[in-house]
This record gives sequence, structure tokens and C-alpha cells, in this order.
Amino acid sequence: MSETARHPGTFVTLEGGEGAGKSTQLQALARLGGASGLEVVTCREPGGTALGERLRAALFATAEGETPPAPAAELLVFTAARAQLVSEVIRPALERGALVICDRFADSTVAYQHHGRGLDAAIVEAANRAATQGLVPDVTVLLDLAPEDAFRRGERGGDYVEREDAVFHRAVRRGFLELAAAEPERWLVLDATRPEMQITHAAWERIRTRLGV
Ligand code: TMP
Repeated sequence: MSETARHPGTFVTLEGGEGAGKSTQLQALARLGGASGLEVVTCREPGGTALGERLRAALFATAEGETPPAPAAELLVFTAARAQLVSEVIRPALERGALVICDRFADSTVAYQHHGRGLDAAIVEAANRAATQGLVPDVTVLLDLAPEDAFRRGERGGDYVEREDAVFHRAVRRGFLELAAAEPERWLVLDATRPEMQITHAAWERIRTRLGV
């Protein structure tokens, strides 16, 4: 269900595993949006608001050797941060007609907390629905990268989620690919090993078509 009819803006999300280059692409796409004369609002999850950044810090303060958050606690923290971001930043921006580009959104919760952690799909879906109030991205770009390649890029091993094993990260990747296959009109799957500029170009073409600019 797309929510575009209810607001004049365009909502783009970037998804994928760690080290796939989401933040680089977010900056490049934001520059292209700005150059097209659009108001561009960027955000990242978890975070993007004062409360969200505090929740992010609390979650990722989990040190090596410490008991990690229980999967249900993790689910509720991610979705609490999302609820605040939607209400404080994303909704108002979309209502102003802005192009909103967000690094991760509800699909990450399905991939990580359902496919990765094994939480019940209906529970994850209900928590996401509470947080998003039914807001669905217009375009979602998946930067697809094998966990082995992410590991080779040396960007793994940071927070406690990233320190999960290859089995976990492979399940997350499969989850993203499954979500993308189920809704091909929303998702654009790009091989994250391609040159950065090619990825930006392909993603921007899809967004531009959606914007009609
Ligand atoms: P990132 O800033 O590198 O994208 O890190 C965020 C981490 O949190 C990453 O390991 C994925 C994880 N995550 C979830 O598990 N569920 C979620 O809903 C979100 C937004 C992130």
C-alpha cells in the first residue's frame, strides 16, 4: 500500500547490510535532489531525532561480553526511534512536499528482527505499523552485498548487531531479497560491488522517474 496519495512529497529509503555504502549513496542522491531544486531531507535509523539518537546510543552502548538486548527489547527500541522520526521529521517533510531520503526504515526491522533474530513476523509487522502509522516508502533501494564481501571491506565488527555471525547476516540478506522480490514496483536491487557512480546513477534514475522531473 503506497501512501503517496496522502502527501505531496516523495519518500525514498536505502536498505542493505553493513558496509554496503548506504551513507555514501544517501549523500550523493541528496546532492542530486538539491540540484533539481527540491527540498531534500535526509535521516538515518535508528536516530534522526534527539530521542532517536539517545535510543541509538543506549542500544549500541552494549559492549562486547555484555548481555545483548533481548530480541523483543531490540525490536521495540528500533520501532520507538522510528515512531519519533516519522512523527517529528518524515511526515512533516512529506507534507511540505520534500524529497525525504532515509538510511534504513521498517524493512530493516523485518530483515534483522524477523529474518535475522527469528521474531514472529506478525509481531514485527505490528510494531512497524505502530511506528510508521502506515507510511510506506515510494522507492526503496537495496544495496545488496554478500556478508563475505562486507567483511572484506573491513566495515564489520562495530556494534553488537554487526558482530553477529555470518549465518545471521546471510539470513538478513535473504530477508531483504525476499522483501524486494515481493514488491518489485517499490524496490530497486543494486549490486553494491558496482562502482559508486553507477549505483548513484541507477538509483537516481528510478527516483527521478518517480518524481517526474
Ligand atoms: P547502521 O547505522 O550501520 O545502519 O547500523 C544500524 C544497525 O542496526 C545495523 O546493524 C542494523 C541494525 N538495525 C536493526 O537491526 N533493525 C532496525 O530496524 C534498524 C533500523 C537497524
